[in-house]
Amino acid sequence: MKKDFLSVLDFTTDEILASFELAKDMKKDRKKYSKALEGETLALIFEKPSLRTRTSFDVGIQQLGGYSLYLSPNEINLGKRESVYDVAKNLERMVQGVMIRTFGHDIVENFARYARIPIINGLTDYSHPCQAMADFLTILEHKGKFEGLKLCYVGDGNNVAHSLMDAGARLGVNVTVACPKGFEPNLIAFQEATEAAKATGAKIEVVHSPEEGVKGADVVYTDVWASMGQEAEAAKRRQIFMPFQVNAELMKHAKDDAIFMHCLPAHRGDEVTDEVIDAPYSVVFDEAENRLHAQKAIMYQLMKK
Ligand code: CP
Ligand code: NVA
Repeated sequence: MKKDFLSVLDFTTDEILASFELAKDMKKDRKKYSKALEGETLALIFEKPSLRTRTSFDVGIQQLGGYSLYLSPNEINLGKRESVYDVAKNLERMVQGVMIRTFGHDIVENFARYARIPIINGLTDYSHPCQAMADFLTILEHKGKFEGLKLCYVGDGNNVAHSLMDAGARLGVNVTVACPKGFEPNLIAFQEATEAAKATGAKIEVVHSPEEGVKGADVVYTDVWASMGQEAEAAKRRQIFMPFQVNAELMKHAKDDAIFMHCLPAHRGDEVTDEVIDAPYSVVFDEAENRLHAQKAIMYQLMKK
């Protein structure tokens, strides 16, 4: 049966750990996997902008011996120029996998339901699972373990926060989301992560004080205050979120050896200051690089014949 990757929760704990082992091996020895997906084509559907996701999937599939096909926001217009069903039924005849970045999460879910080929979520308004996989691979590289760690996500309870909660739940990492009132993670996303966390004992919690959230954290994570599609709210959100800025003062509440993470793009001076994102404890470019390795492993797991 074909497998999709729409959520971190689509993978079991064992599958995630196997994915990380594979990613680490691919990172160590790129040539060894140069024919792993030989001749296979991955279509990349983008309805929002991207630097990292586009580059890492495009380069990643080629490093595995395959091809990529970039379909820009103006190209398909999922559900507008043509129905999601019809697009899925066309593409499955010509390519062996599809990565989709779009707005509504229902679009990727429906696409995956209709298509007989693997579908990868490259970010929706609801989640960003490939980001969380790269992030937890990065955490593993820097901390050498997951057990007993605390990650505090400071800011908007958005798509990135949802996927970090899922990854923490599967891997036994405690995740605290520190956000302003009214900007909590989606209730269903929180419940799904909490349910999954029962198997590993991870604690998933939401607080409204950044200092309380960051206290004792091994990882401090933030993301933009206005996500793609929320540009009109940016000014209003800046006022609300300013007390949640990750700056050197806030970092003092974390563990002495805490690392700082951000999925990027960053709005320097808003959610994070230069002194934090450029500090020696910032691992943001390791995360960006690990998008490549983590997604190569995911593509291999889903598309290998
Ligand atoms: N982090 C991330 O997904 O970056 P892009 O939006 O540039 O792809
Ligand atoms: N929350 C951000 C993540 C970008 C990678 C957004 O959706 O725009």
